[in-house]
Amino acid sequence: MPDRSAVLAALDAVFDPKSGQGLAAAGLVQGLVVSEDRAGFVLEVAAGDTARYAPVRDAAEAALKAIPGIARVSVVLTAETAPAAKPARTASLSPQAVDQTRPKAPVPTDRPAHVRRVLAIASGKGGVGKSTVSVNLAAALAARGLSVGILDADVYGPSLPTMTGVSGKPEYRDGMMQPHLAHGLKLMSVGLLTAASDAMVWRGPMASQAITQMLTQTRWGTEDQPLDILVVDLPPGTGDVQLTLIQKTPLDGAVIVSTPQEVALADARRAHALFQKVGVPTLGLVENMSGDVFGRGGGAAEAERLGVPFLGDLPLVAALRHAGDAGAPLVASNPDGDIARRFAVVAARMADVLGI
Ligand SMILES: Nc1ncnc2c1ncn2[C@@H]1O[C@H](COP(=O)(O)OP(=O)(O)O)[C@@H](O)[C@H]1O
Ligand SMILES: [Mg+2]
Repeated sequence: MPDRSAVLAALDAVFDPKSGQGLAAAGLVQGLVVSEDRAGFVLEVAAGDTARYAPVRDAAEAALKAIPGIARVSVVLTAETAPAAKPARTASLSPQAVDQTRPKAPVPTDRPAHVRRVLAIASGKGGVGKSTVSVNLAAALAARGLSVGILDADVYGPSLPTMTGVSGKPEYRDGMMQPHLAHGLKLMSVGLLTAASDAMVWRGPMASQAITQMLTQTRWGTEDQPLDILVVDLPPGTGDVQLTLIQKTPLDGAVIVSTPQEVALADARRAHALFQKVGVPTLGLVENMSGDVFGRGGGAAEAERLGVPFLGDLPLVAALRHAGDAGAPLVASNPDGDIARRFAVVAARMADVLGI
């Protein structure tokens, strides 16, 4: 097993561009884990500094990899939302404190620990209701008695905090982020980790890194109480960023959300093709905002063309938007309503096909 002091020394050979000190000396090495053939830590920087520190993260990873005996490394770059609001708990994760009290904190692996199934909600376009479906489907799954988490991975426009009324940076405990709890769900959002202005400038590798971190470094479940299902609200689109993310995220299946508009449906086809490319089964298509404005029925026909199940349509109703704005999923606030019934059908199918 590599020596901790050797690891810290190697990290001190990488310089903090702000203070000019080595990373360990500058106090930037948090939650250091050294075990067997692995090493990893959290590089937490001030809000707005993430782009500047991306090369530092890369240099730190290279420095760790160069240490004999270390085969797997992970340096997670996170931004404080507000430097002054840093909780005392986080401060205790200095390298020294970690050395004594947290020798066995896990190094992230690709698959989140104690999570039985990971389901992605995707769309070719933004604004089609992907987050609305994610949050309400998660609530409908929870209503079945399942333990459910939701991960807002939409780096371009994280809306989970608004839609569920949660705010505040997640707490670190034992080297893991604690998800927020609301409406019977465990929640984590890229919007809780970074200032909104940062999210907009994120590019592929950083987006991917943030999502891997939220997946693997959130205490979604425990050995005794695993999470039954994690619903991931993916960024919209079918470009390279999405491809990389989908490849890196251990997905058991995907649901595609589309509006009835022909343009959106062409996007749905591309989304399905993307999942096919990486071997993730498309578990179905949801037509959202069906009704007078956009028409109705395109979703069912499109699902048939794609050879994927049609999971149902959601009408364009003001109550859904108001619920989202008010921070409570409609399925949770009106569990006996028409919308809740529609989501219950989708939830039942998902539970069935995913075997949970
Ligand atoms: N079926 C619906 N009826 C009415 N408003 C909806 C419906 N679905 C979504 N909305 C609203 O449309 C907007 C975009 O939805 P959202 O879920 O944020 O889309 P996306 O995540 O795909 O960008 C939100 O204001 C949301 O409340
Ligand atoms: Mg969204």
